[in-house]
Amino acid sequence: MKIVIVNGSIKKGATYETLKVIENTLTNQGDYDFEYIHMKDLELGFCKSCFRCFLEGEDACYQSNQVKVYADMLRQADGIIFSSPVYAMNVSGAMKNFIDSLTFLFHRPELFHKKGMAVVTTMGSHSKDNVNYLKKVLSAFGVKDTIKLDITLFGRPVSHEKITTKIEKSARKYHHLLHQKTKSPTIKDLIWFSMWKANTQIEHKADYKYWTEKGWYKADYYYPVKINPIKKLIGRVTYKFLISVMPVKS
Ligand SMILES: Cc1cc2nc3c(=O)[nH]c(=O)nc-3n(C[C@H](O)[C@H](O)[C@H](O)COP(=O)(O)O)c2cc1C
Repeated sequence: MKIVIVNGSIKKGATYETLKVIENTLTNQGDYDFEYIHMKDLELGFCKSCFRCFLEGEDACYQSNQVKVYADMLRQADGIIFSSPVYAMNVSGAMKNFIDSLTFLFHRPELFHKKGMAVVTTMGSHSKDNVNYLKKVLSAFGVKDTIKLDITLFGRPVSHEKITTKIEKSARKYHHLLHQKTKSPTIKDLIWFSMWKANTQIEHKADYKYWTEKGWYKADYYYPVKINPIKKLIGRVTYKFLISVMPVKS
């Protein structure tokens, strides 16, 4: 199995050390290949907020060649690990720009049936909100099942026994997740699907084309899956409500 690991720190510091413990633990559990995307090697300028990826497609981005390299790495992975240190209460600026540059995947998600792991290291604060943020980003890209690992160092090294034990435990949990079937969508997943189903009809031409080609305007979810009828109804009612209040195409 191929695991793509995004090191959201611009150095090989505590976050990288945490990722290495995860890599070693997974290696002891099964047959894995690892590929890293390090923020320090990233050849990526800032997202310019031109909206061209939404309107015309990701090939219209001013740095589409670089964006494609990273998007393709994620597309080819079985498992995706997003990580970041907490800097000023948030994910690192580099990690945020990496995510911004791939935001077209929120509008046109593709990374279904891959398993995610969200990892955050911090000295003392804001690990929980940032690990939740990384999980939400993975979910928006299509990765529904994600393990969370938040490490608060309080001045201790990653090699501290308690910290290493916590990382190894999460990595073993991730190993099991990697071998499980994707869970069926939750009500929240279905509401988000309905939200994007309506949103992509508001002058986002590339999104509209993609959603039409995928047949998603006629679907209850991104891929065929058994959905509880009550959850399905909630998704459909949400969509009906949204298209009645949003300025979507006729
Ligand atoms: C610029 C900067 C801002 C930071 N902001 C916070 C913060 O808001 N809260 C906190 O608990 N730790 C903060 N830290 C500490 C880092 O989260 C912590 O040392 C982290 O493990 C560093 O990971 P790294 O070595 O992979 O970069 C900050 C560190 C830096 C360099």
